[in-house]
Amino acid sequence: MTLQDAIGHMGTNVASIVNDGSLIGLGSGSAVAAFVHALGLRISQEKLSISGIPSSIQIERIAKENGIKLETSSRMTDVEIVVDGADQIDSEFNMIKGGGGALFREKVLIESSKRRIIVADESKYSDRLTRTVPLEVTEYSRHFVADSVRALGGNPTMRSLEKGYPYFTQNGNMIFETDFGRIEDPRKLQLELLKIPGIIANGIFTMPIDSFFKAKNDGSVEEIRP
Ligand code: A5P
Repeated sequence: MTLQDAIGHMGTNVASIVNDGSLIGLGSGSAVAAFVHALGLRISQEKLSISGIPSSIQIERIAKENGIKLETSSRMTDVEIVVDGADQIDSEFNMIKGGGGALFREKVLIESSKRRIIVADESKYSDRLTRTVPLEVTEYSRHFVADSVRALGGNPTMRSLEKGYPYFTQNGNMIFETDFGRIEDPRKLQLELLKIPGIIANGIFTMPIDSFFKAKNDGSVEEIRP
């Protein structure tokens, strides 16, 4: 049994929760993709009707292939359940997200959803948040934001593609991967980042989550309800 098998089982477990006729929010990443594949199996075998609002083109394509009817953000406030991944989760269930650049849309989807589920493998769980924090930043404000973030003790590096071309999000913005070292108070840092104009979204997620599913190296899956 591999971790990949466990991520597949985690997807199957979460797919079993979804009711026929639901409108779901779809986060991005490989763990959400495993969930969408498992849900796709149920859709074809049980002839279910499931709609979804995607957070990125990555998950939109997989959702379409798996029989999920795509909805636009006009139905955002009707989302019953959101399933999303995470890049790091601390012992108090604060998260860093945005490894795939979809942080802004993921934040809107999670905040608007009635039930919130996170799917992540064991390697994402940590005592404290230590990973670089993705910040989605408008091109116009990038120098001001970089200086403002340095004043908070962060070290921002523009996310780039091959040959140094900047990475742009689906909203047309840049990403600063920002090293804050070990983050002792994620809520405080999040509030400081919210005060900086030009940061469209920061990758610190502290909102209440109903269930965290953890895919473990031994192949098992644990559900944690904070
Ligand atoms: C997308 O921007 C991120 O927030 C993803 O949810 C995160 O990177 C998880 O991806 P994996 O499931 O592929 O690790």
